[in-house]
Amino acid sequence: MRKFILKTTTTLAAAAVSVSMAHAGDVEVLHWWTSGGEAAALNVLKQDLEGQGTGWNDMPVAGGGGESAMTVLRARVTSGNPPTAVQMLGFDILDWAKEDALADLNAVAVKEGWDDVIPEALQAFAKHDGQWVSAPVNVHSTNWVWANKSVLDANGIAVPANWEEFEAALETLAAAGVTPVAHGGQAWQDATVFDAVAMSAGGPEFYKAAFIDLDEEALGSDTMVESFRRMEVIRGHVDENFSGRDWNLATAMVINGEAGFQMMGDWAKGEFLNAGKVPGEDFLCFRFPGTEDQVTFNADQFAMFDQGGNVSAEQAALATAILSPSFQSAFNVVKGSVPARTDVSDEAFDACGKQGMKDLAAAAASGNLYGSMAHGHAAPAAVKNAIYDVITAHFNGEYDAATAALELVDAVSIAK
Ligand code: GAL
Repeated sequence: MRKFILKTTTTLAAAAVSVSMAHAGDVEVLHWWTSGGEAAALNVLKQDLEGQGTGWNDMPVAGGGGESAMTVLRARVTSGNPPTAVQMLGFDILDWAKEDALADLNAVAVKEGWDDVIPEALQAFAKHDGQWVSAPVNVHSTNWVWANKSVLDANGIAVPANWEEFEAALETLAAAGVTPVAHGGQAWQDATVFDAVAMSAGGPEFYKAAFIDLDEEALGSDTMVESFRRMEVIRGHVDENFSGRDWNLATAMVINGEAGFQMMGDWAKGEFLNAGKVPGEDFLCFRFPGTEDQVTFNADQFAMFDQGGNVSAEQAALATAILSPSFQSAFNVVKGSVPARTDVSDEAFDACGKQGMKDLAAAAASGNLYGSMAHGHAAPAAVKNAIYDVITAHFNGEYDAATAALELVDAVSIAK
């Protein structure tokens, strides 16, 4: 049984309340942006819409990766009462589009020229049968490390250039009595770390073969065993209270100097900014050692649920607001992500944001841009969840590395 059931029950009650408060002309938005940094970013969107006379009916369901939100969504759709707009990732969008549940956004997309400015990698998840079915908000990526600069300086640690140097840095911090890795033991967080660890251990061809092509040989390979072995090294450097911890509380440990590093997508930057911290001065952002040329991405999108035919005026207003260049800059500066449009200036972004934009463009141009397994952009939810289960069981000591690779082959072959 997964741990989210309890939370889901609570949020189902919240769903009922939020429905009764909806007014015509409001958008009801189901999302999982509940941390301080996420809420600050969401406010940019709320205010933008409210400024245009479209009310916002908030429907938050906590839990990174959106697994709990997707459970609530399924219940709402089953009872014939879908929300107007839903934050969604990758294959989930395509799954709902196949069920014919999403509103056609083509009229808005064509009028506003989305085809010309939204990268192919995002269009692959925003269109179904050539029709736009969701509005991309951003591009995040998962192969980042966030570090407390004074903790690193005090311990003579430079940004590690490869896995060996990273492992040495973890040992130095452990010897100094600092928690080396801030981590929250939740399946999606374990998988987020695994995205980067596997990419680093095996490189992009291996990552693609294993998580996108679901190739048995790659899933059961020595490289996969090595990836699991490296997860054990990381597991040996988290604190004893890691289990179940929310990701933003892990980020707070790095912010406070309790821990040295966190491996997390760039939504973590939103927490540092929300705490008034400055990149390069208080904290460092760098690609997971050995993945400097790669970007494992996920893009948050808002899919609009078909309210019986055409896209409603509120849904169109939301889609237009999301893709406006000024919103793309204002929102992503706060969120930690980078714009979903290729024509937005990096001027307003901090050093990590500028690097994120440069990395994304370079990775796309050099064939180094891959969908994040952990965040639903490599394989459909059933396969993703099967992979999660093995990664988490191994992280919690249920299997050794060699057994985990074998279990992965089995789990994927059953789920796909
Ligand atoms: C991701 C999502 C991000 C982020 C994170 C943690 O799945 O794409 O926007 O906020 O979860 O909640």
